[in-house]
Amino acid sequence: MARDALEIRFARAPVQCSVVLRDGLLEQLSRAEIGNAGTSCVIITDDLVARLYGKQLKEKLCGIARTNVITFPHGERSKTLNTVARITAKMSKLGCDRKTILFALGGGVAGDLGGFVASIFKRGIQYFQVPTTLLAMVDSSIGGKTGVDAVWGKNQLGSYYQPDGVFIDPSTLDTLPSSEIINGIAEMAKSGIIADPQLFAKIDSALNNKAIIDGLKPLIFNACKIKAEVVEKDEREANLRSTLNYGHTVGHALESSSGYRLSHGKSVLLGMFCEGWISSKLGLFEAKDYERHSLLLSRIRDRFNVRTPLLDQKKVLRFAFLDKKTSEGSLRMSLPEKIGKMHIAKDGMYTAPVSRELFLESLSQLRQERN
Ligand SMILES: NC(=O)c1ccc[n+]([C@@H]2O[C@H](COP(=O)([O-])OP(=O)(O)OC[C@H]3O[C@@H](n4cnc5c(N)ncnc54)[C@H](O)[C@@H]3O)[C@@H](O)[C@H]2O)c1
Repeated sequence: MARDALEIRFARAPVQCSVVLRDGLLEQLSRAEIGNAGTSCVIITDDLVARLYGKQLKEKLCGIARTNVITFPHGERSKTLNTVARITAKMSKLGCDRKTILFALGGGVAGDLGGFVASIFKRGIQYFQVPTTLLAMVDSSIGGKTGVDAVWGKNQLGSYYQPDGVFIDPSTLDTLPSSEIINGIAEMAKSGIIADPQLFAKIDSALNNKAIIDGLKPLIFNACKIKAEVVEKDEREANLRSTLNYGHTVGHALESSSGYRLSHGKSVLLGMFCEGWISSKLGLFEAKDYERHSLLLSRIRDRFNVRTPLLDQKKVLRFAFLDKKTSEGSLRMSLPEKIGKMHIAKDGMYTAPVSRELFLESLSQLRQERN
């Protein structure tokens, strides 16, 4: 039975977070893993995940403390302040207090929403992430970024709020539709590109598997470790953490400008095509590695049938400027030099300025490749 565990220690003592990965973990969750029992537990999850795993987790937690489940409709459209208002009102009605422990069960939407609720309810309560999508396991459940979307852009309202722990049960991926796997694999490929050539190569091999998820499951912990190492060194994204945004400046702008019809993973995949191209154009990305990078991304694109949408380039640019990764009116991006190594500018920063012209050119490039 696969079992892995790591501790993330943040500079702001005593904040720390343990990540535990084990097949069947949801069935075996015990008080020992949760530590302090709290006065009650509340599970925040979407309607689909509630049906699949809500009862299972509730039964386990009921053995520890009184537990309620609060659901919201699945999908990115629920990641709003309205949903936060509804959840917190329900928690209050259910008698949740400062010692209630929150469990954010589900994909990145449940994680971001649940984490945000935990950060503001009674000025902050203890919480755990229980990710059930590949994306949430390898990325969103780790690092403490929480929040919701606003009408003017994605993730525009939020907080840094670390969970006490992350419980990963890879067997929950057996019910995940294949259309959701792209979201996780895009983030895993990103992790390989920014920090780990071996992970990059293993993802390439995993693509040969007929059931791709079987090839990816053994790599989940490697991806978690990369995220954990980065956020431990730079929790508040002063510098190094910006490398995790590779592909996301263009990606988020594509996602927002499509009205979220283009999924996060597909947007990030296309974003990495653009940002890799920009890095190569700026003479930063070594030619051989740029070729390998683009080959892997093309394999993923073909395997998951990712099509480039018709783009209103100016609209995409506008959204990029609304994104939090822009500073002082100029676009800055974290760009690769090699597979596993990100560029560090002369000023020591992991981001480099990118002109509007180059940004737009990279979108045209993407459009030319449109299939
Ligand atoms: N906080 C961060 O650091 C961070 C990082 C990356 C992405 N994100 C956010 O994560 C969100 C995307 O997350 P996501 O891709 O997990 O989407 P999601 O949470 O919407 O989940 C995708 C779908 O899968 C379903 N689902 C979840 N687990 C399942 C399972 N085991 N079996 C069957 N169905 C299941 C859900 O009901 C949903 O319909 C975005 O809002 C993005 O901004 C946050």
